[in-house]
Amino acid sequence: MYCISMAKITISLIKADIGSFPGHSQTHPLILEKAAKMLKEAEGGIIIDSFVTHVGDDLQLIMTHRRGENDKEVHELAWKIFRTCADMARSMKLYGAGQDLLSDAFSGNVKGMGPGVAEMEFEERKSDPVLLFMADKTEPGAWNYFLYKMFADPFNSPGLVIDPQMHDGFVFEVHDLMEKRKIRFRTPEEIYSLLAYIGAPSRYVIKYVHRKDGIIAASTSTQRLSLIAGRYVGKDDPVMIVRAQNGLPAVGEVLEPFATPIIVAGWMRGSHHGPLMPVGLCDAKCTRFDGPPRVICLGFQINEGKLIGPGDMFDDPAYDRVRGRVNELADMLRAHGPFEPHRLSLDEMEYTTLTVVEKEYEKRWEPIPE
Ligand code: F6R
Ligand code: MG
Ligand code: MG
Repeated sequence: MYCISMAKITISLIKADIGSFPGHSQTHPLILEKAAKMLKEAEGGIIIDSFVTHVGDDLQLIMTHRRGENDKEVHELAWKIFRTCADMARSMKLYGAGQDLLSDAFSGNVKGMGPGVAEMEFEERKSDPVLLFMADKTEPGAWNYFLYKMFADPFNSPGLVIDPQMHDGFVFEVHDLMEKRKIRFRTPEEIYSLLAYIGAPSRYVIKYVHRKDGIIAASTSTQRLSLIAGRYVGKDDPVMIVRAQNGLPAVGEVLEPFATPIIVAGWMRGSHHGPLMPVGLCDAKCTRFDGPPRVICLGFQINEGKLIGPGDMFDDPAYDRVRGRVNELADMLRAHGPFEPHRLSLDEMEYTTLTVVEKEYEKRWEPIPE
């Protein structure tokens, strides 16, 4: 269903890995330039404003418009840009050119076709700060911990205790990526039940957070490429939109959880646990062991749909210490080599080449007598 509302603004953050250099480390500047030009041409038509960036090998299209979530034209615009950029990547012989575009023909919505999508429609407030998070070499459930801290943990967000507008708490919509079902948990009253699910981030992923009066506060991407493609195609490198201030967590409360080094799934070959490193745009490239997993955050004020900014939020010495601790954890995990818990557990490795190894040795296994 496509609903056009004149009053409301929609932010669409749509990303895809359409090829990178060298290997899976970063998007090429010429690709970023091309995508930015194509979006600029659409401004004043389908979209109001745009911004193009990348984290690691993922091309990120940030668009504002008044067409609501899941709009066919907006998704088609993103799809066209990804296709054009993938062709360019092929002509430059970039690595993994077109890797996230699972289909040739556009089917009305980029969801399920490879790209990752987070969208949020809202009534613009008098002043509306929005933070856009983009991660590489990890999975959508990686946001679970951070969203919980922002919206449900008063030790992170004192606003939950102090600000009367936040005091009633929030509603978390959780998606079960295996069973394709969803559920809503109310916090603070249901935090233990919420945690029982979201503590398993490879399966249960927070999709939306709303304030109890209905105001949208956060929206994430939930695609799992391997589940769509039916084979191993890497991790999904998720994105997330969070609104801040004036009855929602302050910008600083939204950023604070990233000062703790948290272990996520992804990293090398999408098959390892590693610490998530918050970085500024200048460090948004994956190097060591194809990582470590990275997250950037761009902050904007929204003005009649215009993107005022961005502020490069993790480009700050305040995050030097977490980066140092991430490097220590990376050393510790790397020392495990091919052993768990550095390597993902067997059920998570299901879509990798491990299944090929298992097939090869199937016949050599003998039963152990009782
Ligand atoms: C992880 C990722 C990389 C690749 C690795 C091997 O999401 O994209 O770590 O898995 O570089 O890539 P191939 O198999 O293309 O040589
Ligand atoms: Mg790649
Ligand atoms: Mg990537």
